[in-house]
Amino acid sequence: MRRFIVVGHDAVTSGDFGLKDLAGATGRLDILLRCINSVFMLSHSLRTDAELYLVLLGPPTPPRILRMVGSELRHLNPDERSTASLVRRALSLPSEGSSTPGIYLQHRGLEELLREFGEALVYLREDGDDLRSVDIPHGATFVLSDHKALTREEEQMVMELRPRVVSVGPMPLHADHCIVVVHNELDLRGL
Ligand SMILES: C[S@@+](CC[C@H](N)C(=O)[O-])C[C@H]1O[C@@H](n2cnc3c(N)ncnc32)[C@H](O)[C@@H]1O
Repeated sequence: MRRFIVVGHDAVTSGDFGLKDLAGATGRLDILLRCINSVFMLSHSLRTDAELYLVLLGPPTPPRILRMVGSELRHLNPDERSTASLVRRALSLPSEGSSTPGIYLQHRGLEELLREFGEALVYLREDGDDLRSVDIPHGATFVLSDHKALTREEEQMVMELRPRVVSVGPMPLHADHCIVVVHNELDLRGL
C-alpha cells in the first residue's frame, strides 16, 4: 500500500461550497483535488494500491480528515469538478462515516493520524535527500503540504517520528506533481 497524507491548511471542513470557484472560496481545495487525481488516476484505471488522507484545517469545524481508499473507490473521474462533488458529499455528512464508496469522513487531525502511520514515514521537503538514492520502505507513508509549508508545530510532530526527509528534485513543485514523481519512482522500483 502506498499512502499519502496532504495537509490543507485553509481547506474547508464543510460541504457548503459551490463548484464554480474551487480555487477561491474553498481554501484552495483545488490543490487537494489535484492531489486526489495524482494519487489514484492512471490513464485508463485507478491505482488500487493507494490510499490518501487529506487533512482539512479550514473553517468552519477543523480538523477533519477525508480518507480515500483506492481499492474501494467508485465514481472517481479525472475532472476536478466531479471530484469536488464527491468531496462535498463527504463533508456534508452529519457525523463520521462514508458518503460514497471508498471515501470516509473522520473527525480527527494530523497528530492522531501520524501516530497511526508513524513508522516508515517519508516527509517530502525540497531540501531533503534525493528520492533516487534513498531507501524507501515498503508501505511507506508520504507527507506533503499544500500551497503553504507545514507550520513549525506540524513539522515538529512529523520530525518526532524520525521520518526520512526526501526531495523529489531541485525545483519547488506543486504537491500533486510530487505525488506523480513518487509514484513513478516506486513503480520503477517495483514497490
Ligand atoms: C507548493 S509546495 C509548498 C509551498 C512552499 N514550500 C512554500 O514556500 O510555502 C507543496 C509541497 O510539495 C512538496 N514539495 C514541493 N517541492 C518539492 C521537492 N522538490 N521535493 C520534495 N517535496 C516537495 C512539499 O511537501 C511542499 O510542502
